[in-house]
Amino acid sequence: MSNPMYILGISCFYHDAAACLLKDGEIVAAASEERFTRKKHDAELPRSAIRYCLSHAHITPKDLAYVGFYDKPFVKFERIILTSIATFPRSYVAFSTAIPIWLRQKLWIPDIIRKELGYEGEVLFADHHESHAASGFLVSPFKEAAILTVDGVGEWTTSAYGVGRDNKLELFNEIRFPHSLGLLYSAFTHYLGFKVNSAEYKVMGLAPYGQPKYYDLIMDKLVKAKDDGSFKVNMKHMAYDRTLAMTDWRFERLFGAPRREPESKLEQRHMDIAMSIQRVTEDIMLKMTRYLHAQTGLTNLCMAGGVALNCVANGRILRETPFKNIFVQPAAGDAGGAVGVATFLYHTVLGHERKFTWKNAYLGPEFSGEDIRNYLVSHDIKFHELDRAELLRRTAKLIDEQNVVGWFQGRMEFGPRALGSRSILADARNPKNKDVVNLKIKHRESFRPFAPTVLADRSPEYFDMECASPYMLLVAPVRENKRIIPSVTHVDGSARIQTVTRDENPLYYDLISEFYKLTGVPVIINTSFNVRGEPIVCTPHDAYLCFMRTDMEYLVMDHFLLDKREMKPLGKDIDWQKEFELD
Ligand SMILES: [Fe+2]
Repeated sequence: MSNPMYILGISCFYHDAAACLLKDGEIVAAASEERFTRKKHDAELPRSAIRYCLSHAHITPKDLAYVGFYDKPFVKFERIILTSIATFPRSYVAFSTAIPIWLRQKLWIPDIIRKELGYEGEVLFADHHESHAASGFLVSPFKEAAILTVDGVGEWTTSAYGVGRDNKLELFNEIRFPHSLGLLYSAFTHYLGFKVNSAEYKVMGLAPYGQPKYYDLIMDKLVKAKDDGSFKVNMKHMAYDRTLAMTDWRFERLFGAPRREPESKLEQRHMDIAMSIQRVTEDIMLKMTRYLHAQTGLTNLCMAGGVALNCVANGRILRETPFKNIFVQPAAGDAGGAVGVATFLYHTVLGHERKFTWKNAYLGPEFSGEDIRNYLVSHDIKFHELDRAELLRRTAKLIDEQNVVGWFQGRMEFGPRALGSRSILADARNPKNKDVVNLKIKHRESFRPFAPTVLADRSPEYFDMECASPYMLLVAPVRENKRIIPSVTHVDGSARIQTVTRDENPLYYDLISEFYKLTGVPVIINTSFNVRGEPIVCTPHDAYLCFMRTDMEYLVMDHFLLDKREMKPLGKDIDWQKEFELD
């Protein structure tokens, strides 16, 4: 038998650096760099993620057939130069800040990769949106599908329409910079006092508290959307094509007030603006997907790019367009570009048939029971060792008794959501848990809703949604007669759902089944295992620190149970609220 073909995909130097390893077309490992360096959205060359991918497969860089990079730095460089010239001299500051980084680092990507990895083979590049499109389609369950990619910006493209068939994909239309739905959304994220490229989901979470009072203003003055799915952003009110800021005084004049100071009080106005831009985004996405359907006649849709993480829009596309099936993989943003370029090389460039379908998000590092026992013993941490049945029974009971439980099991998730490997769990029936978990555990804003995990087979009883939502990327209404899970039901009666099957995650599924047996409710709160501003925990040590620094009552790691009351206080702890910059 011939040796397997390994391809390493890398995305980095913008935000959310990640690495992905393919073995004969199958994703064997993928992870974001931030989890290892503990620096949220870390954009550096993903050295640790690469090291992890290679060690997981027991290979060295010499075993790699190819390394793929997820976009084309020269074309992006051209865009920055041309845009800067077009908007000179207003662009001078942004230009002179960006250029040295480009010259020093980004244009030398193949050299940097070869040198850092000790790799001597070829480094190949895909277009940014080709990578997104591949990351959506080539790992999907569909032989044939329409493809839509939507993000801030790649090289020039901000959105692409395409079709995937077998191992080929064709992008037949695009929208180009500066017209960008992602950047438009980010401009509002910035104006509302949140962090760009990081806190867009807060705008989405804030929206249901508001009314779409600014909808017409946005559609009149800021963005012109046509029925053919194309749109133009009016750059007269925008700043992102010429400065480092997303918005300036012209945008503020349009909305009649300055940008909200970060961390200051959220007023009704802010919520109305959030609702307005969210609605505009959804409506444009609906136009885009209807156009795509009319052009292709297909009923399967694959989406990728940062905007594909807008699960409210995704839910509406499923309900309101002719598309019957939607696939969005869990790392739909730029981290997923690492998967995209690797699969693009393997299938589309090298012509290999597709055999692999994305099965679950558990592609990151794992720690065995022995690893965890060694960690606990060597740190003199008290624990209870339980067999599987007892572990499930005890944990379900603890949640029913209104404890908040850290849940650390198996391989870490790839993508921004915790899906039952690195999660914090609590009882969704208790209305107080929204505040308890937001404020006491995660130290984050109280308006942020929590998402439920539901047993997939019970999901239709609780939610008005026929299909599965394994990656928490669809929002659907909670059924009227099931409004008994208030801490995961948003003010507008919706929920951002994770469905779980036993195949996807047996231990997690069995835990929720146990809770169901105990309480009659097959739903729990699942939020990511981290505090505000911190990347999701990766190692047992990260988990233990997060557990000790918050009011979480119990921590379950593998088959070990830790009780906060039995813990010795942390020795001299660093000031973690300073360690993690607020997101
Ligand atoms: Fe992107």
